[in-house]
Amino acid sequence: MLNKSFYINTIGCQMNVYDSEQIAARLAAMGYQQAGVLEQADLVIVNTCTIRAKAEQKAFSFLGRLAKLKIKRPGLVIGVGGCMAQQEGHKILRRAPHIDLVFGTRAIDRLPLLISKIEDKRCRIVDVAWTETPDGLDTLPERRLDSPVSTFVTVMRGCDNFCTYCVVPHVRGRETSRHPDRIMEEIRGLVQSGAKEVTLLGQNVNSYGKKEGLLSFPELLSRVNTIEGLVRIRFTTSHPKDFGSGLINAFRSNEKVCDHIHLPVQSGSDRILKRMNRKYTKALYLDKIAKLRDTCPGIAITSDIIVGFPGETETDFADTMDLIKTVHFDGLFAFVYSDRPNAPAVQFRNKISEEEKRKRLQTLLKLQEHFTRIKNQALVGSVQPILVEGTSKKQSSGRFNRSQSTGQWTGRTTTNKIVNFYHHDNPQSGVDIYPGKVVYTRIEKAYAHSLWGKPIEVESATGGLKGEKSYAA
Ligand code: 5AD
Ligand code: SF4
Repeated sequence: MLNKSFYINTIGCQMNVYDSEQIAARLAAMGYQQAGVLEQADLVIVNTCTIRAKAEQKAFSFLGRLAKLKIKRPGLVIGVGGCMAQQEGHKILRRAPHIDLVFGTRAIDRLPLLISKIEDKRCRIVDVAWTETPDGLDTLPERRLDSPVSTFVTVMRGCDNFCTYCVVPHVRGRETSRHPDRIMEEIRGLVQSGAKEVTLLGQNVNSYGKKEGLLSFPELLSRVNTIEGLVRIRFTTSHPKDFGSGLINAFRSNEKVCDHIHLPVQSGSDRILKRMNRKYTKALYLDKIAKLRDTCPGIAITSDIIVGFPGETETDFADTMDLIKTVHFDGLFAFVYSDRPNAPAVQFRNKISEEEKRKRLQTLLKLQEHFTRIKNQALVGSVQPILVEGTSKKQSSGRFNRSQSTGQWTGRTTTNKIVNFYHHDNPQSGVDIYPGKVVYTRIEKAYAHSLWGKPIEVESATGGLKGEKSYAA
C-alpha cells in the first residue's frame, strides 16, 4: 500500500469542485490518502480558475506558499490543473520552477499516468491537449463512500456561446454532453452513499444533449426526478437565449426540481448585451421572467451582472439598474469587468476606469441588498421545508460529526435560501435531526444573507411528513 497523501486546493466555480472530486477519486484509486493538512501532503494539486484576474492572483499566491514548502520538502510533487493551467500551459512551468505538472481541463482522466511518470522520472510535464473524451470522466470507480447531503454532477462540459468577455470557451472547449445513462448511474451511486440533493452542472444546461442527439434537458430532469431516495434537484447555469417553455414546465411537472433558477442577465442595456454577444434583449429577458413567474409564482430568481464592460455609459448602467428594479431578483452575483486574454473584449475600446467600475458595483449592490431583504423578509412567519445540510460549523464540508454538533443547524429552502436554527437532542422528544432530513421550519427572522427559523415538525427525507399525505421539496 502506497503510504502517500494528497491535498487539493480548489479555486473557482462548482464545476471545479466537481472536477476536484474526480481528481480525488483518481488519486485514491492510485493508493493516495487524503492529507489532513497541506504541510503533510506528498502531492498538492491546485485546481485553478481564470474567469477574472483576481482568481489567477489567488492561484499564484497559493503557489508562492507552496514554493516555500518545497524548499523544506524537496520531494513534494505539485500539480496545477483547471482553467488557468489550460490557458497558461508551459508559461506556468517557466514562471514557477517548483511546479512539476500542469494539466488542462480535459486531462483529468490522464492524471494517474502523468503522476506515475513524474514519480518515476522526476520529470516536469505539461498536458493541455484537447482530447475529445466526453466520457473520460465516466470511467470512474466509486466516487466515495460518504457523499455530502448536497452534491454536484457535471452533465455537460464546455461552452459554444463565446460571450465576448468570457474565457470559458477558450479553456473548457466546445460543449459536450454526458450520456444520460452515465449521469443516472452516477446520481444513483451518490444517493446510495448519502446524497439527497444534486445540482446538475453545465455552462449552458439548456443546450444539453442537442449536439449529440441525446435527451433534451427537460427530459433529463424528468429522468433524474425518478431516482428513488433523491429529494431535490437543482441545476445551473441556464442561458436566457435558450431558456423556454420546456424548462419552465419542468419546474411544474417534476416535484423534486427546486423552486430556484439562476439566469445570468449580465446587463440591462441592449447595446451592451449586443457587444457582449449575449443574443437577447432586455425586453426578451423580461418576457421570459414574466412567463416563468406566470407558471411558477413562488420561484426564486438569481442572476449574474457585469458592471463596467468596455464602453458602458451612465445610460447603459442606468438600464441595468432599471432591470434590477423591474425583476426584483432574490439575489445577485455582481462583478466588475475584468480583461481576459483570448476573450475578444480585451481588444474593445473605451475601457472603464477601476474607480468607476467599483463605484457602479457599490451602487448596484446597494440596490440589490434592498430587494434581497424584502424577499427574505417576506418569508418571515411562513413554514418552509428545509433540507438539513449539517451543523453550522461543519456546513462547508457537508459531512457530519455528532460530537462536533453545536446545536445550531443549517439547511436550505427549496428557493435556495440558507436557514439556520437551533435543535438540541432531547431523547424524550423522539426528534432526531441529522443531515439529509427535511425539517419543517417556521421562519422567525430575516437577515441580509440568511434566515433564522424554528423547527416545527421533522420527517425522514425519504418518508412522508407526519400528518401530511405528500411532500414536495
Ligand atoms: N469579467 C467579469 N466578470 C466575468 N464573468 C465572466 N467573465 C467575466 C469577466 N471577464 C462573470 C459573468 C458570469 C460569471 C460566472 O462570471 O457574470 O456569468
Ligand atoms: Fe462564458 Fe457566455 Fe459560455 Fe457563460 S455562456 S460560459 S458567460 S461564454
